[in-house]
Amino acid sequence: MTATVPEEPVRRTDADAEARGLFVSFEGGDGAGKSTQVGRLGEWVRGLGREVVLTREPGGTDLGLALRDALLHGDHVDPRAEALLYAADRAHHVASVVRPALERGAVVITDRYLDSSVAYQGGGRDLGADEVEKLSLWATHGLLPRLTVLLDLDPESGRTRLTGDPDRLERAGSAFHRRTREAFLARAAADPGRWLVLDASRGVEDLAADVRARVAPLLAEVSA
Ligand code: TYD
Repeated sequence: MTATVPEEPVRRTDADAEARGLFVSFEGGDGAGKSTQVGRLGEWVRGLGREVVLTREPGGTDLGLALRDALLHGDHVDPRAEALLYAADRAHHVASVVRPALERGAVVITDRYLDSSVAYQGGGRDLGADEVEKLSLWATHGLLPRLTVLLDLDPESGRTRLTGDPDRLERAGSAFHRRTREAFLARAAADPGRWLVLDASRGVEDLAADVRARVAPLLAEVSA
């Protein structure tokens, strides 16, 4: 007897999801001030009457919180296992939080996304940008942000801004963090249409204004 193969459910394409909502990510080294800027942008967009979903990686879901704890506060993790765990967090985050919100027409602002994996695991851990990117694209069915804001900062300055005990990634050493920064900058330079690179040593208000100026026309493109 042959089993009947159930029909594939019709999956919304990324273009459909993106046509309704707007997906923005913030990237940068540790201590660059991403969470402050995520909050500022979220407040502003909400004030315009749009639904806003603020989220982060790793840890934007319950499963993600468990993965975040293992990744940041556990023992040594092999670099490939590390890349897979970040990708697993991302797959679940996109499927259960990001894509449904975009399909509702929300503005989704995430503190880190796929480019963190390309920079930290691809660059910092030397696993290679292309392979790490492919892994995350597979995990997310190819979902990329419409805009990625890079808050670029010299890793030494970033380190002095950190409070509390450093986590496993923050302890990775200055050469690791330099490679990560270079990987972010190279990626941004290769795709200026998606990226906005800002000098994170500037003041919070100035930075927030530059982000708003770049987001405003993108909001006008998506229906409320
Ligand atoms: P983050 O939440 O920005 O740290 P914190 O809240 O302590 O400022 O990110 C946690 C760490 O995880 C950070 O050092 C970067 C790292 N990371 C990766 O290495 N790869 C990834 O794909 C992501 C999303 C984060």
